[in-house]
Amino acid sequence: MNYKVKDMGLAEAGRNLIQWAEDHMPVLMHIKSDFEHQQPLTGSTIGCCLHVTKETAVLMKTLQAGGATVALCGSNPLSTNDAVAAALADEGIHVYAWRGNSDQYYWCVDRVLDHQPRITMDDGGDLITVLHTQRQELLDSVVAGTEETTTGVNRQRMMAEQGELRFPVVAVNDAMTKHFFDNRYGTGQSTIDGILRATSVLLAGKTFVVVGYGWCGKGVAMRAQGMGAKVVVCEVDEIRALEAAMDGFSVMPVAQAAPRGDVFVTVTGNKHAIDGPALQAMKDGAVIANAGHFDNEINVPFLQEQAVASHQVRDNTRVYEMPDGRKLYLLAEGRLVNLAAAEGHPSEVMDMSFANQALVARWLLQKDPTLEAQVYPVPESIDREVARRKLATMDIAIDTLTEEQKQYMHSWQEGT
Ligand SMILES: NC(=O)c1ccc[n+]([C@@H]2O[C@H](COP(=O)([O-])OP(=O)(O)OC[C@H]3O[C@@H](n4cnc5c(N)ncnc54)[C@H](O)[C@@H]3O)[C@@H](O)[C@H]2O)c1
Repeated sequence: MNYKVKDMGLAEAGRNLIQWAEDHMPVLMHIKSDFEHQQPLTGSTIGCCLHVTKETAVLMKTLQAGGATVALCGSNPLSTNDAVAAALADEGIHVYAWRGNSDQYYWCVDRVLDHQPRITMDDGGDLITVLHTQRQELLDSVVAGTEETTTGVNRQRMMAEQGELRFPVVAVNDAMTKHFFDNRYGTGQSTIDGILRATSVLLAGKTFVVVGYGWCGKGVAMRAQGMGAKVVVCEVDEIRALEAAMDGFSVMPVAQAAPRGDVFVTVTGNKHAIDGPALQAMKDGAVIANAGHFDNEINVPFLQEQAVASHQVRDNTRVYEMPDGRKLYLLAEGRLVNLAAAEGHPSEVMDMSFANQALVARWLLQKDPTLEAQVYPVPESIDREVARRKLATMDIAIDTLTEEQKQYMHSWQEGT
């Protein structure tokens, strides 16, 4: 058995966490039961680079139930739950992940690739990038890949545009039943959860700055407002800035927001969204966090260079003492605060994201669609199947079009 985790003694605790997730992921559990009977993934190896959470564990067990051999590494050095990793290793999943594996992050990615996956499943695109740059000898055995997050999809679109992508990738992030819910309600809730677990600050009455008003930013802003914070949004896209303004938030450049904010969250997928000048302008006591995929959204090296002293004040909170006496608090080293300081998205929302992943894996391996080396959307039939199954588990019924309405929607003669 090939795996490397922190401590196999944690497996029992991990099994309890996974049980909790299973009890809150009815759609994925239904798919798992289908997979057990149909064995649609038999004989295939699936290589995954995903946050090693209890929800990811349910997906791994679903793929395994469908007949796949599964290898898994974390997609961020601070997002692995060591108990979950141990429980998965105990179940026969090839896991190479432990919390705090910064130095050996790419060693873990390489070990997953050693299993020669037919399908890759990425969250951020590191597996695909390493395959195309350092492990090209394995490219021919890959049928296709899937991508879980916005940043990864952006990277793969760039690869396709530059003629570098060598196999098709399905943008699971772009499914409606993924980003509408996971990015917005998942990131919204779990980012607040991470900030509170790391600091326990009162949000009511505070000025809370959200940098980036995409799907994640909308969720974070909405939930911060719900906690009583005065929310300020910073954007570079005129339409999203307008949307934020009409959603009722103050909109201003980051330079203006910097001296006003008490809490800052970046969710842009972009580098240095909070850069040196903004860090110089922040007031004493400012709390700074990132919920975007990579840890480059806040210019952390600038903080490290400028600070006269720095130490860990609480789990996941480090204070930087600036030369002018200000204290700035950076959460989770600037890595995804919702995964590093909390548990990531709630199981209920990952239920839909990972249902898409499982059904897309089956579609790729069973239907054998003839796809080129491009980025493809999730088939609409899968997206809608996930929505239908989720509604059913929530005991929500909806109306259906009558024959008269269907005909009307396909006609043009009837008017005023
Ligand atoms: N923490 C999580 O669990 C989680 C979940 C899903 C996605 N993500 C990640 O969060 C990031 C955002 O994802 P999304 O789906 O919201 O993307 P998105 O593309 O919908 O939104 C990003 C927004 O940031 C804006 N932006 C870009 N550069 C900016 C800058 N310098 N200043 C201000 N605004 C800027 C863009 O105009 C856009 O509106 C990505 O890195 C994604 O991979 C994280």
